[in-house]
Amino acid sequence: MNRFVVIFILCGVFLLPTSISAAEIFPNKNIKMIYLNACAECHGRNAKGGGDAPSLRNNDFIRKYDVRTINEMLLKGVSKEKTRYPEKYEEGMPATKNITEEETKILSELIKKWNK
Ligand code: HEC
Repeated sequence: MNRFVVIFILCGVFLLPTSISAAEIFPNKNIKMIYLNACAECHGRNAKGGGDAPSLRNNDFIRKYDVRTINEMLLKGVSKEKTRYPEKYEEGMPATKNITEEETKILSELIKKWNK
C-alpha cells in the first residue's frame, strides 16, 4: 500500500474520536436537536461561534450572567443598541423563535454550564 494512503487512514482514525467528543457537549439528543435547529446556524454546531455570532463556550460575557439573564436574552434577543460587539455583529441577535419557553430555559442552563 502506498505510504501516503497509510498516513491518510491513520489520520482519520486519530481524528474521529476528537469529532465525536466535540458533539458530546450536549447532555442528550433532544437538546442537541433544539440547539442545532435554533442556534447552530449562527453560533456553530459545537457552539464555538462562527462568522455570524460569538462562541457560547468560554465566553467572558456569559460567565458574568446568571441563568435568568441568559434566558431573558434568548427570549428577547439582543437589540442593535445593546450589542456587545458593535464592530462585529452590529445587528445584535434576534429573539428565539419556534422553540418553547421550557426549551429556552434548558438551553440557558446548558450555556451557563459551558461557562462556569
Ligand atoms: C441569526 C443569528 C443568531 C441565532 C439564530 C442565534 N444567535 Fe445568539 N447571538 C447572535 C449574535 C450576533 C450575538 C451577539 C449579540 C451582541 O451583539 O451582543 C449572539 C449572542 C448570544 C448570547 C450572548 C453571548 C455574548 O457574548 O454576548 C447567547 C447566550 C446566545 N447568543 C445564545 C443563543 C442561543 C441559545 C440561540 C438558539 C436558541 C441563539 N443564540 C441563536 C446571533 C444569533
